[in-house]
This record gives sequence, C-alpha cells and structure tokens, in this order.
Amino acid sequence: MRIPQEIIEEIKYRCDIVDVVSSYVTLKRAGSNMNGLCPFHSEKSPSFTVFPGERNFYCFGCGAGGDVITFVMKAENLDYRGALEFLAKRAGITIPQNDERDDGIKKNRILDMNRDAAKYFHGMLNTQAGSPGMEYLLSRGLSMATIKHFGLGYAPNDFGATVSYLKGKGYTDEEMKVGFLCGISQKSGRPYDYFRNRVMFPIIDVTGNVIAFGGRVLDDSKPKYLNTSDTPAFKKSRNLFALNFAKKSCAEQMILCEGYMDVIALHAAGFTNAVATLGTAITPEQARIMKRYTKSVIISYDSDAAGQNAADKAFKLLGEVGLETRILRMDGAKDPDEYIKKFGALKFKSVLEGAGSRMDFKYNAIISKYDLTLDDDKIKAAGELAEVLAGVYSEVERDIYIRNVAAKLDIPAERLRMDVDRIMRRNKRVEKKNESTAAMRAAEGWGDRINTDFIKNPRAARAEESILGMLQLRPELIRTACGGEVLKEDDFFTEFGKRAFRVISANIESGAAPDNFAEHFNIDESGRLITMKINRSQLTENGEGVYCECVAALRDAGKQKTMNIEDILSKKRRTTNE
Ligand code: CTP
Ligand code: MN
Repeated sequence: MRIPQEIIEEIKYRCDIVDVVSSYVTLKRAGSNMNGLCPFHSEKSPSFTVFPGERNFYCFGCGAGGDVITFVMKAENLDYRGALEFLAKRAGITIPQNDERDDGIKKNRILDMNRDAAKYFHGMLNTQAGSPGMEYLLSRGLSMATIKHFGLGYAPNDFGATVSYLKGKGYTDEEMKVGFLCGISQKSGRPYDYFRNRVMFPIIDVTGNVIAFGGRVLDDSKPKYLNTSDTPAFKKSRNLFALNFAKKSCAEQMILCEGYMDVIALHAAGFTNAVATLGTAITPEQARIMKRYTKSVIISYDSDAAGQNAADKAFKLLGEVGLETRILRMDGAKDPDEYIKKFGALKFKSVLEGAGSRMDFKYNAIISKYDLTLDDDKIKAAGELAEVLAGVYSEVERDIYIRNVAAKLDIPAERLRMDVDRIMRRNKRVEKKNESTAAMRAAEGWGDRINTDFIKNPRAARAEESILGMLQLRPELIRTACGGEVLKEDDFFTEFGKRAFRVISANIESGAAPDNFAEHFNIDESGRLITMKINRSQLTENGEGVYCECVAALRDAGKQKTMNIEDILSKKRRTTNE
C-alpha cells in the first residue's frame, strides 16, 4: 500500500534534517547553514552542506543532494519505502498498514471515546499516579485555572491503564485502535496504551468535540510529542489547536503559533486569539479556515532558522487565501511561551503591534545583528542589506525598500542606491560569465551525465533550470499564466526537465512539498534539482515577473533549431580554430 502523503510530510517534518544527518556527519555551523565532510565521496575539506531552513542537503563536491529521505536512502542503502519506515520509527510515527481505518467505526463512537479519555487523563492529575504530570504542568508555569480551561491531563506510565479504563466504558479494542488510543502488540495481538507517561493536550473542534490528542514527554526524550493521526473523526490538516476558544476573539486578528505550549501561554496572558497547527506545517485548508474567522494573521513562530523559514512559507500561503499577514519578530526568546515568561505580556503586546511585512522582517533580521551606533557595524549592515536589495527584481519595489532601509540606517538613500546598483552590475557580470562558461562547456561537448539533453539546447535547458528552481521556492507560480498560458510539460525541451516538471507539479497538486524528489529521482538527480533551487534562493516578492521571463525564454529557445551532434562538433571546431 502507498504511504499517505500526509504521513510522508509528517515524517519529513518530525525528522529534522540536521538531527538525522548529524548521526552520520559532524556538522559545523556556517552562517545559516551547516557544513561537513561528505559521506558520499571522499574529501578533505567540507563541501557537504545542510540547509536547515530548506530541509535539504547538497554536496558542492559530488553533486549529491536531496531531502532527509534521499539522505537516508543513500546512507542506509534503503529504497524509498524502507527509508520512510526507518525515519517513521525514529520519530515514533506509525505508518498505517492498510486502508481499513474507515471500516464501519462511527465517528460518533470515537468522539465519545475521546471525551471519556480526556476526562480520564484530566482526572489523573489529581491522583498519586498522575502527580508527575501535575508537577510538570505546574513547573511550566501553568495555573490550575489554565490547566482546567484547556482540559489538560496526564496519561499514566502504564501499558494497560487507559485501555482498561476505556474497556470498562464499553469501547472495543478496534475502536481504541482506530481512534489512536491504543496500539496492538504484534506478539500477543493485545492492545496497549498508545500514550504513556505524557501530559495530554486535548484537541477540541469549534463545536466542542474532543477530536484528538497531543501528548508531550515530561523530559527531553524523543519523540517530544505524540499526536493522534487522522481518524474518522479527525483530520489534522483541517483543524487548529484552540480555535474553539479563539473563534470568539479573533475577528480582527489572529495569532498563529507553532506549539501547543505557545498557544496556552498566550491565552493565559490574555491573548485569547492565538491558535496553532497540529504538529505539521500550515496547510492550505487551515489557511482557508482561518480566513473564515479573521481578517488578519500575525505569524508568531519560533525564532530559530526552521521557525523563520516556516514563517515565510506560512506567510505566502495565508496571503494566497487573501489574509492580511504579518510576521512577528521576537528577540531574546525562542518562542512566544518563553518570551512571555521572560519579558511579560505587555512587552509581547508591543511586539505584536510592531510586527512588520515580510521584507521589513528580512531587513530587521540583518539590522539586529549589528550595533548601529558603531560606524563599522553600520557599514557592514549597509553592505549586507545592499546585497539583499540588489536581488529585488522590481524597480519600484526596490526603490521603496532602499528608502526604507536607508532611513533605518540613517544614511542618505542615494548612497545606498549607488551600492545597490554596483552590486547589480556585478551580479550581471557574474551571470554573463557563468553563461558563457556553460555555453563553452556545451560547445566543447562536455557530457552532462544527468541532463543528457542539455548540450542540445543550452539556452532552453538553462531557462528550464531557473523555472524548476523557482517552482520549488514558490509553488504557486505554477498557476501563473505567462504570455496568456500556464506552463506545460510540452514547453520543456529536455527529457529531464519534463520529468522534473511532472513530479514537481504532481507534488504541488497533492499538497506535498514541491521538492519531494526521493521517490522519483536518484541522489545525483535530486542534487541537480536542489542546486536549481539554491541558485534561485534570492527570489524576491516579484518572482512572478522573473518567472514569466524565464518561461518566455524557454518557449523562445524551444522554437530554435536544435543542435545535433554534427552542429556541436562543427561549432567546437570553429571555436578551436579561432
Ligand atoms: N511537534 C510534534 N512532534 C514533535 C515535535 C513537535 O507534533 N516531535 C509539534 C507540536 O504540535 C508542538 C509544535 O510542533 O507543539 C512545536 O514544537 P516545539 O517548538 O518543539 O514544541 P513546543 O510546543 O514549544 O513545546 P515545549 O515548549 O514544551 O518544548
Ligand atoms: Mn516551547
């Protein structure tokens, strides 16, 4: 049976690429990335790079690249399914063995059972066996009122307590299994408690049903959270934690967090319009649901690289459903929970009010690294900002940002503009040079092992690479009608490009990450596709214009006469004669 897409996404989400790779390679931080010696070829200086934000790796030495699944396939010598099973086990995720979840078990039975279980877990807190849970929740600074409000609880450290309680209430093994409250032992065929020694967060829908649970360990062991997978009564991609409370106070604005604890801390501090996704990245369905309840969203994710990257993605998705969206920047704390504990609710409120646009956010991230009262720092900040500004495609946009940034740095806008122009000229030169190197290679008939058609029409192939890179970064571009028509497989010239476009569009269609390549490409091929993305990672808000330029170039190049090997050789001869 095929593994459902949402399970694959969950596995990828839970198995942090840095964690996984670190079991094989000693990684050192290099800017926002991590470097190490490539495990796939022998080398003395590190060219193997992990991009934590992008959840990818790439070796600049041997061209191997991909995501955490590709990595495990190669490192453990497993096939695609084997790698998924390997990672699922590591993350404590159960891959459903068959499609029979819907086998007649009624949604209402599961909802009843969940309610009973929630009461049981909550009641446990006041028992001897439940004291570790109670102690933990109190140690996290939660009041009794908050614990009660959210119906928090504790699943005892026992393999049979919950099961026997629910049995006593008349639920069958099958119902408990389908509802993810028990597992079935492979040896004895008997049920055992799914959640053990965890504090329990009931997930409640807007009508007040207990639809699922999240359970957190009391220490640093892994997996940190276990969550109910999808059941007949629950689809995690369509629900949000605490929306049942937030719906009353979120009409103007909603706060979107990553974690249960963040939401709880925010509600306790009076921000009752906070919600969180349920252990996965935000889905288009969740974005549409939010749109039903609110006008604007403030994304308040963790301040680490992964959180920031997720914030960027959420920003795009929320914008697409028409929500006004801003990203919150927190300094000095890793997440909203910690922020409120350290600095208090008032300070958080002022940060909320100051949350800016995405570009603002990027600039502030750079500025905050420097002390602007020092000349040296100011110069460095200006240099770094000019690099980013030079990547803004639209002249109008660039002009606005230049003036904004100059004001922030307190330097004349004209000075900054000169720097930006200079960098843009330099970038153009580099681009030209790269192009002519590529053209020379093509003319020399250098074999391209991966894209064997490259040489036949380098101009088309290069346009393809830009497009495929952009689609990985901005999947929504695929719907852009360039020159009146959206891009089609037939527009592609090379077989490799066609195949990549097929996979990327299928991924986008199914709601998967566009760069889910592991099932369809080997590690060298996916490495090639990842470079396309890396090369385009400076893509700005005006990606659409750039995208259409590349599509036009591809269509135009596709019309040209293809070079056959004769042409290539004669061109080579000419080059050599000159
Ligand atoms: N999550 C998950 N499974 C994991 C880790 C995280 O489902 N193994 C989800 C949970 O919904 C969690 C959210 O991702 O709330 C954010 O993760 P993280 O920031 O690690 O947890 P916090 O909620 O901040 O929890 P805590 O403060 O207790 O560490
Ligand atoms: Mn936290």
